[in-house]
Amino acid sequence: MSKLNGFCNIDTRQFTDIYDKYGAPAYVYDGAAVAARCAAALSMPNAFGIGVRYAMKANSNRTLLREITQSGLMIDASSLAEARRAVMAGVGCEKIILTSQEIPEDGDRAILEDMMRRGLLYNVCSLRQLRLIGDFAAENVTGLSIRVHPGVGAGESASRNTGDQYSCFGVHLKDVGAALEYAGGKGLKFTHIHTHIGSGGDPELWRGNIDRLLAIVGKYFPDAASVSFGGGLREARMPGETAADIDALGRYAAERIGEFHVRTGRKLRMEIEPGTYIIANAGYALTRVIDKKSTGDGGFNFIVVNGGMEINARPQLYGSRHPFYVVSRDGELLFSEFDADAGKTYGAIVTGRCCESGDTQNIDAQGKVAPRALAEPEIGDFVIIGGVGAYCSSMSPFNYNSYPQAPEVLVRENGAIELIRKRQEIEQIVANEL
Ligand SMILES: Cc1ncc(COP(=O)(O)O)c(C=O)c1O
Repeated sequence: MSKLNGFCNIDTRQFTDIYDKYGAPAYVYDGAAVAARCAAALSMPNAFGIGVRYAMKANSNRTLLREITQSGLMIDASSLAEARRAVMAGVGCEKIILTSQEIPEDGDRAILEDMMRRGLLYNVCSLRQLRLIGDFAAENVTGLSIRVHPGVGAGESASRNTGDQYSCFGVHLKDVGAALEYAGGKGLKFTHIHTHIGSGGDPELWRGNIDRLLAIVGKYFPDAASVSFGGGLREARMPGETAADIDALGRYAAERIGEFHVRTGRKLRMEIEPGTYIIANAGYALTRVIDKKSTGDGGFNFIVVNGGMEINARPQLYGSRHPFYVVSRDGELLFSEFDADAGKTYGAIVTGRCCESGDTQNIDAQGKVAPRALAEPEIGDFVIIGGVGAYCSSMSPFNYNSYPQAPEVLVRENGAIELIRKRQEIEQIVANEL
């Protein structure tokens, strides 16, 4: 048995089995790793109870939604369509919060209202949203959530910061007074106060957000029974990166909520909304080496694999770095980025097959395609890309160059390999064209 790294539960030979059955590229998920993260999130220290909502935008596969919610997590949906997908996966509306930039209109409005009657918690994200939902909510639900834009955020890149002046998520603090006035006029109560300051940012700012949100609740929201500190817990995908310490953050939150109780007599239940933390490091992209080239003196070696930006666009979007593994066709581990002694003998650019010179899995801090040192693979070997469980299958520009959406495979805790999404057929790509 050999494993890609210390936290992977999949035997490298299983990647060969997966290739034989379903081909490459394919997403492969480590079910035991997902289950362990769900359990860890649910045991985050807290003062008066914790609710964990899985941010399904990270990965919305129906089987994964089922597994994650059956282990006790609820759902954070970012659109009505996501909420509907959760319901289609068997999740009850009462387990879903909807936090969206748009309020559904026309036919979708009736669907939203039906879901709210069945317990979906609507998270008001703007004054306009509040005005559009106010009358319905006053007559049909007991409380609303409000997402507050605190004015301070943090993200793994500027585009992942959702709390500063460059992003417009939530009701800005300057508008909270107007929201309260409107809600008061309708007899509406904000029972849940929410914020999400960004993804993958500095854990110190996440900690600061706890204080900020509690101060906001104390000042403005007498009816709040729960607070959500959002998602955004930083994950370490590459060796040398440091993940947020959720235990320490939980202890800090528990202390502050405890102090809030002493000051006010109010017991606030706490929520978090992790996406990345639950699934990022449980996902691997299985690709095969289809070519090797070089660009001569002063140039680079290139390893061309059959899955790149259409599988994982995070390097292009955020400059994110993902670990590489090389596994032979018969399942022998030849190189792991996590093995300090691995022979990093070959400097190469790992490039995808899309007609785009930026289609690489390694981009440097200046935004340029960059080589990385690894062991030289042969044509036909597998290059496996780690850390692709979150925001890859759900967010990549699949169908560029008409490449079909890759299949998804779950390796269950007992080692069983299960196809959880088929490879797309070319007929499906063109199905809606007239
Ligand atoms: C409202 C909200 N909650 C939670 C998350 C999950 O963030 P992460 O995957 O970084 O945990 C996001 C991500 O964008 C979000 O917008």
